[in-house]
Amino acid sequence: MPITVRRIQPDDVDLLRRVRLAALRDTPDAFAKTHAEESVYPDEFWDGRARSNASGPEHTTFFAFDGGDCVGLVGGHQALDGDHVDLVSMWTDPAARGRGVGAALVAAVLEWADGRTVELWVTHGNDGAKRLYERCGFVETGAHQALPSDPCKDEIRMRRTGG
Ligand SMILES: CC(C)(COP(=O)(O)OP(=O)(O)OC[C@H]1O[C@@H](n2cnc3c(N)ncnc32)[C@H](O)[C@@H]1OP(=O)(O)O)[C@@H](O)C(=O)NCCC(=O)NCCS
Repeated sequence: MPITVRRIQPDDVDLLRRVRLAALRDTPDAFAKTHAEESVYPDEFWDGRARSNASGPEHTTFFAFDGGDCVGLVGGHQALDGDHVDLVSMWTDPAARGRGVGAALVAAVLEWADGRTVELWVTHGNDGAKRLYERCGFVETGAHQALPSDPCKDEIRMRRTGG
């Protein structure tokens, strides 16, 4: 089955919660938040996120599908402190990796960003993700910080200049 990508819709509340919690369970070291934190978010949180990400240039989520199965997601947010977009929450189901799902999700965020610069954090040592971002035109900025969900780990800033 070819991989398809589509933007979240307001009624994708259960799908969003299920796939995001699967990502946090699968790869705790890759994300700023933990499964313990997000698994107790109330329904209103997921409902609000699905609605706010479904349209407009400020917030988005894209899902990847293999036939009817959702096999990945990614998010994008217009930064509060600048004119760039932050790419967040990138995850491909382990059974679907190595088939271009990640590249397709990055491409969806770049298209949505519509010429804006896109930035992201990737955990030091997450070489597969870093290679994916490099292939998509991101370069290290030199900035780094402690991973919010595990301050013993370091994360690296990458940027793809828009225009
Ligand atoms: C990082 C991650 C999103 C990559 O997702 P993915 O769907 O496997 O990404 P892609 O398939 O586009 O690229 C991965 C590899 O598959 C290869 N590939 C891409 N398309 C392919 C295709 N059609 N056929 C075969 N291989 C392919 C790529 O060359 C790449 O190889 P590399 O690892 O040697 O560079 C995934 O590994 C993941 O979810 N990891 C855990 C969460 C995580 O780390 N998220 C990042 C947070 S910053």
